[in-house]
Amino acid sequence: MLTAGPTHEKIDPVRFIGNYSSGKMGYAIAEELAERGAEVTLISGPTQLHVTHPSIHKISVESAKEMYAASMEHFDTMDAAIMAAAVADYAPENYASQKLKRDGEDLILRLVPNPDIAASLGAIKEKQILVGFALETQHAEANARKKIEKKNLDFVVLNSLENKGAGFQTDTNIISILHRNGEQQDYPLKSKRAVAVDIVDYLEKSL
Ligand code: PMT
Repeated sequence: MLTAGPTHEKIDPVRFIGNYSSGKMGYAIAEELAERGAEVTLISGPTQLHVTHPSIHKISVESAKEMYAASMEHFDTMDAAIMAAAVADYAPENYASQKLKRDGEDLILRLVPNPDIAASLGAIKEKQILVGFALETQHAEANARKKIEKKNLDFVVLNSLENKGAGFQTDTNIISILHRNGEQQDYPLKSKRAVAVDIVDYLEKSL
């Protein structure tokens, strides 16, 4: 199972809070898994990408809450879950059913926390391998290691926005894989498709 892409948290019928994820990284992993013979459940936020491989079963969602519900529904039959989505940590407390009008005053939006999907799966996992991503802007390795513990991950794929060619929207990425046993493997700049091969190789070793 994979999560991929951004989530959109609705403010009103014409506006949302989102992020820059294109889905490229998650979809590349889904393709690599399918090509190796896996049946893949791809839970995707809104992206421009399409899947063609018949073994990729895509579930389209919009918000973090929808992604959470789909992930919780499918997790127990999975061998592994890879959380490549950029999930909004907060959503507007209230949805305005009519378009918000400008009235010259400050507009205050109150945000409330979304569920942490990876941590929720980490809390219930049995035999599954749970793989997180960590997108960092500073203190990358220390923050990624904290996520392994907090979310009960088997390993984390770290990409840092400090590295040119890594992260959102690019066709390339630079990753390190940090295992909960302390092991760390660093990889050079590669296409996201080639990065997907490295991640799936590592996953296969862990199964
Ligand atoms: O989609 P692209 O444009 O190709 O970009 C790829 C990417 C940069 C989005 C991808 O490589 C990546 O890093 N994805 C994770 C982004 C992220 O939200 O990282 P984080 O460090 O905030 O979250 C840590 C982990 O918890 C991630 O596995 C995330 O999916 C998961 N999470 C986070 C918050 C939340 N509420 N629920 C979660 O499951």
